[in-house]
Amino acid sequence: MDARPNLTIDQLLAELHALAQISEAPSPVVTRVVFSEADLRARAYVKNLCVEADLTVSEDPIGNTFARWQGSEPALAPVGTGSHIDAIPNAGMYDGCAGVLGGLEAIRVLKHLGFQPRRSIELVIFTAEEPTRFGIGCLGSRMMAGVLEPSQAVTLRDKEGCGLEDLRCHAGFSGPLESVRLPQGRFHQFVELHIEQGPQLEQEGIAIGLVTHIAAPASLHIVIEGEGGHAGAKLMPGRKDALAAAAELILALEASAKSTGAIDTVATVGICDVFPGAVNSIPSRVRLETDIRDTDAVRRDGVIEALRAACTETASRRGVTINIELINADPPATCDETILAAMEEAAQQAGKTYKRMVSRAYHDSLFMARIAPVAMLFIPCRGGVSHRPDEYASPQWIGEGVHVLARTLATLTA
Ligand code: GLV
Ligand code: MN
Ligand code: MN
Repeated sequence: MDARPNLTIDQLLAELHALAQISEAPSPVVTRVVFSEADLRARAYVKNLCVEADLTVSEDPIGNTFARWQGSEPALAPVGTGSHIDAIPNAGMYDGCAGVLGGLEAIRVLKHLGFQPRRSIELVIFTAEEPTRFGIGCLGSRMMAGVLEPSQAVTLRDKEGCGLEDLRCHAGFSGPLESVRLPQGRFHQFVELHIEQGPQLEQEGIAIGLVTHIAAPASLHIVIEGEGGHAGAKLMPGRKDALAAAAELILALEASAKSTGAIDTVATVGICDVFPGAVNSIPSRVRLETDIRDTDAVRRDGVIEALRAACTETASRRGVTINIELINADPPATCDETILAAMEEAAQQAGKTYKRMVSRAYHDSLFMARIAPVAMLFIPCRGGVSHRPDEYASPQWIGEGVHVLARTLATLTA
């Protein structure tokens, strides 16, 4: 099977660039927060492409979107592929989108070649893989897997205080959130194409990463309440500076992640909101959002415990109050050997180099793994750069990924 005989991936590249233009920030920055106007326009754009490809499109009450190519035995559970199109602030154009539009291209390639799947193939566009708006990642797939209950989901609010219920209704999604959850067996298998978001494939000159495991993410929100006051008049003894306390916690977290000695342990404080945020006012309140990950959930939990201990110690020594809220601590996922073997064979037949590897980023596949066998297919990205506007995957890398995905889908649905 050629990638697309007599054709190129020009259409896919044009679509990726067109999607990147649908952003809350000027090009090349892509910012597309879930349920924003840009997100809704992007959804409409992708749904229209799916309709043009003769796929049957449906949506669930949280906005997860399914585009189905009916197999010759429609009663069989479909094989899924897809990813997300929301983007964190100041992002690039390939994270998630390569898997959505690449998945669509793989379907178009197979159609073009006259392939008739026995099982249906369903392209899935997941709602809010990124935690930007609601503070929790993989909202759509998390709910599909039943990991986030509707009763918990309705309590989610964004920074402006807007609730999930209002936001989803405003975006045009209604119906009982209970129906987002999918049973085991709803998908026969699921394969996600994604950029690596790390440097290994490019550095080693390898076209395809076959993901065997997805690392375990966790997130904690910390609020430190100290005592504000005049930055000049209040002397240093007896101060209860919430930001100084936060600085200690940030460094304690970094030290704890390094102390595991494992290359796979990572910890980040990506958000630090300071109140009142005036240069001549002692910070009275600080809010931190932390992200802690490891391939080994027990080791990751050790870092969480060390952070909790640092909070207790800092609070008592500095006389501040520290509240910690665990937002999520998800287990890692193990990918399915049958799909990995199909991807490996596809890479061999396509004459592409490949290696097995771990995904340190999380993906919707982490949650799909709860309800179906999954595997992921990585392609290189320049310099390992991601979550930045200069994120880049070459047309050749994308084409190779789509080629191997198409072959894999053909094997899994034949
Ligand atoms: C997903 O975007 C992640 O942060 O791993
Ligand atoms: Mn991302
Ligand atoms: Mn992603």
